[in-house]
Amino acid sequence: MAKAKPKTKTENSTPMVKIFIMGAAHEVPASLTIMKAIEYAGFKITRGSGCRAGFCGACGTIYRKEGDYRIYAALACQTQVEDGMVLTQLPFVPAPKARYNVDELQPNASAMLKYYPEVARCLSCNACSKVCPQEIKVMDYVQYSLQGQIKKAADESFDCVQCGLCAIRCPAEIPQYHVGMLARRLHGKYNLKAPENLEHRVKEIEDGVYTEAFSELMKLSKADLKKRYTERDFIDQKKA
Ligand code: SF4
Ligand code: SF4
Ligand code: FES
Repeated sequence: MAKAKPKTKTENSTPMVKIFIMGAAHEVPASLTIMKAIEYAGFKITRGSGCRAGFCGACGTIYRKEGDYRIYAALACQTQVEDGMVLTQLPFVPAPKARYNVDELQPNASAMLKYYPEVARCLSCNACSKVCPQEIKVMDYVQYSLQGQIKKAADESFDCVQCGLCAIRCPAEIPQYHVGMLARRLHGKYNLKAPENLEHRVKEIEDGVYTEAFSELMKLSKADLKKRYTERDFIDQKKA
């Protein structure tokens, strides 16, 4: 986090709380999320922020509460500050991701164990499920993966935002979110029927239906591209 010019606090009756960022005390409005509070305190977040809406998983944060020795973890853009919170930002979670060609695999336990043999070390401690901001039963999808129950693993991990908080808590050093991703890829490729609309659109692209339009867009300046985007026709999907 780079220190930016501090913001001027406005005169109003907003209740304030005291939080600590990297050890320094700051007064911030109690209604803010951790992410907004960090910015309110004058920091510019240059990494660890993306969608700001709970989808991208970029803003994993750990914190402590006053008088509580435990370490809590959360998404900074989705968690409101509390008085006495002691905050620090996490760098991204670089858990190792296996490289594989999903076309050469089968939806079974062998594929899982080949690329993520760590799943066999799961201690069933459930620390991953407890920390998950999406309230996913992470331990369960790890177990399903180990047992080759790919559909169940894919379904259970479906809402994962890849924040990595589960992996930093795992005593068996399992990159759970990558395991879930492999399960969903296997399930999507082998267990589900490809949507007709998607196949149709892919064929259109392969047949060059959009080639001319794409090349026209590629030549536009950023300003013209923005103008084109904001002035585009909206299609009401319910009526289409
Ligand atoms: S399963 Fe792990 S990576 Fe996915 S949202 Fe939960 S804690 Fe984050
Ligand atoms: S934290 Fe790791 S060892 Fe514990 S239940 Fe989750 S995957 Fe298994
Ligand atoms: S910034 Fe995307 S989940 Fe928080």
